[in-house]
Amino acid sequence: MRVLIIGASGFIGHYLQRRLLQKSGFDITGTYNSRAPTDVDQPWYPLEVTDHNRLDQIFLEVRPEVVVLLAAIADVKTAETGPERATEVNVDGARQVARLCTKYHARLIFLSSEYVFGGNRGNYQEDDSPDPNTHYGRTKWQAELAIADEASQWSIVRTSLVYGWPITGRRNLATVIVDRLKNGESYEGDTGTYRTPIYVEHLTEGITQLVTSYHPGIFHIAGTDWMNMYQFGHSVAEVFGLDSSLVKPIPVLAGLPPENSPPEEVEQGLRPDILGLDCTQTNHKLGLHAFSVVTGLKEMLV
Ligand SMILES: NC(=O)c1ccc[n+]([C@@H]2O[C@H](COP(=O)([O-])OP(=O)(O)OC[C@H]3O[C@@H](n4cnc5c(N)ncnc54)[C@H](OP(=O)(O)O)[C@@H]3O)[C@@H](O)[C@H]2O)c1
Repeated sequence: MRVLIIGASGFIGHYLQRRLLQKSGFDITGTYNSRAPTDVDQPWYPLEVTDHNRLDQIFLEVRPEVVVLLAAIADVKTAETGPERATEVNVDGARQVARLCTKYHARLIFLSSEYVFGGNRGNYQEDDSPDPNTHYGRTKWQAELAIADEASQWSIVRTSLVYGWPITGRRNLATVIVDRLKNGESYEGDTGTYRTPIYVEHLTEGITQLVTSYHPGIFHIAGTDWMNMYQFGHSVAEVFGLDSSLVKPIPVLAGLPPENSPPEEVEQGLRPDILGLDCTQTNHKLGLHAFSVVTGLKEMLV
């Protein structure tokens, strides 16, 4: 099966291509934007996803049967500070990929986010109505809509906070916490920010299931523990045998911006941030295991 991973050079992309390469019967090709891979056997394609001619050329050469779209401006702050570019990459790019999937008869798997939800209560289910309150979340929701509209065969995977050792690029929360505590620095965890964190290997196992066989629709793949960032910091300290007294809680009110902050910051600080995904339906449909944070963190140690 010919699989094209768009955004293979990112955090999740690296793990996914590694997992798929371990399986027989898969011909894996990836794209990168700014970070050319140095550790893969076959050449990857440089791609700026807003360059639609280049995209078409890659589809023509690869003739993928399955496309996994990971490429995006994945950092929430970058999307908030550069909203036009985020829309161009995350929405227009996704729409074009969806069109090409239809043109070349490929199945599309798109990685979306819990940020499509409003953040008022957490534990959102697959059929809850999206109501994003960040620009990043709006781009992911608009991309979902564009894909459902343009692609003939699609699966959308929403996930939560993903953690693991970064093979390249951005660090993620678990490794930020490990580094801080190892250096004797404190980690201040927001008690008002809730997620269902998932270990990157568990996420790519779920995506692999969707690559292997077609399941149309929307899926939630995340961890079983709905926790705030202070609790997550504690779990990291405990599993890694680090000093948990360095993990401090930031009370919800203390996390709000000072009174004289610019309106955008006030709005940002006041925004509820209670996300996290209920994955019961997806786990049942795909036969996935439900993994706890402690299980994932322990696997990082192996
Ligand atoms: N990590 C999380 O916690 C999380 C949670 C929910 C959803 N997601 C979603 O999962 C996907 C992958 O996230 P990630 O954490 O692996 O992000 P990442 O490490 O930042 O990787 C992003 C990927 O997109 C590529 N890319 C960025 N801008 C591009 C552009 N203009 N044209 C073409 N490619 C471009 C990057 O290429 P280069 O690196 O070569 O520049 C990289 O391969 C994203 O869609 C994100 O929204 C992530």
